[in-house]
Amino acid sequence: MTDDPLSLLAGDAASTGEQAVEGSLRPRSLDEYIGQRDVKASLAVLLAAAKGRGEPADHVLLYGPPGLGKTTLATIIARELDVNVRYTSGPAIERAGDLAAILTSLDERDVLFIDEIHRLNRAVEEILYPAMEDFALDVMIGKGPSARSLRLSLKPFTVVGATTRAGRISSPLRDRFGMSYRLDFYGEDELTSIVRRSAGILNVPIDPEAARAIAMRGRGTPRIVNRLLRRVRDHAEVHGDGSIHPGAVAEAMRILDIDDLGLDATDRKLLAAIVQKFGSGPVGVAALAAVLAEEQETVEDVYEPYLLRLGFLDRTPQGRVATEAARSHLASLGYDVPAPRRAEPDMTALWDNPAQPS
Ligand SMILES: Nc1ncnc2c1ncn2[C@@H]1O[C@H](COP(=O)(O)OP(=O)(O)OP(=O)(O)O)[C@@H](O)[C@H]1O
Ligand SMILES: [Mg+2]
Repeated sequence: MTDDPLSLLAGDAASTGEQAVEGSLRPRSLDEYIGQRDVKASLAVLLAAAKGRGEPADHVLLYGPPGLGKTTLATIIARELDVNVRYTSGPAIERAGDLAAILTSLDERDVLFIDEIHRLNRAVEEILYPAMEDFALDVMIGKGPSARSLRLSLKPFTVVGATTRAGRISSPLRDRFGMSYRLDFYGEDELTSIVRRSAGILNVPIDPEAARAIAMRGRGTPRIVNRLLRRVRDHAEVHGDGSIHPGAVAEAMRILDIDDLGLDATDRKLLAAIVQKFGSGPVGVAALAAVLAEEQETVEDVYEPYLLRLGFLDRTPQGRVATEAARSHLASLGYDVPAPRRAEPDMTALWDNPAQPS
């Protein structure tokens, strides 16, 4: 774990050390899983019905920004079904044969979790279609004119696919999921409960107001509140008696350069770039990525979703636009906020002051 605010707010689990802590904080049943009420209610029915019939559950697609609990839900689905789960990811399955090996190793009704499913390559997807639809594996035997295809049957299983970008999934693949669920950012009360639950597991005393103060800065994301909680705990251990009170939260946030809305230096740099360098927009995401020295995909998947949700950013066909709310947030933090370029020129001002260059 580092104290780098970038990795602190990035949605993905950074290090293996962090993954270990994440594992310990991960809810293990639908009952323990906080929030996402509609998703939970629907999944509970799906899973109970499948279990009652002794059949595999329908294939489930989970999508939403990083850190909202997709992997956690996949694990819970398998637990609730009393079956094993096998984890893999789109980029990890390079060849059709890799997927065939995984599929043939699954037991009856097992869950196959495919993370970043939008990154599966074409040849692998083609193997997945009949596997999901008919529990069949089509293998080619021989080469050239004597080659023929042989269909093997697989034990019935459930695919749980996860992606941060539903739009990137090919439509034939999407069609093979019986259910798809969109995870949304969590509300403040839910995040407060998550902070309190995690503090309990980590055995740190926390005052309710402090739990809420962390939740408010957690960008609607359980992974981020858990990460902030651990940083505040460090701070409370070093500078106090180890218990977490609002003062410790405020002090830790100041050191981490996280503002009252949970925005970090990179978020503010992104907004400030749009406002100061590009007349508040519209500006293309590629240009923004260049200013931040980040991958375009990182800007789109990690930084933008929460800024959109806060109403600080608009996505228009011409590019990204910083909203009035973003402009006043920056202004309140002392940033220079020039007039937006997109506004129509004020004609009366021109008449009043004809010498002004246009
Ligand atoms: N509903 C929840 N209740 C309590 N804790 C949660 C919940 N959802 C997620 N968490 C916590 O947040 C952490 C991150 O969740 P998870 O790894 O499932 O996110 P993810 O959506 O798979 O992210 P990514 O897109 O980066 O793979 C988990 O370790 C877990 O502790
Ligand atoms: Mg995950």
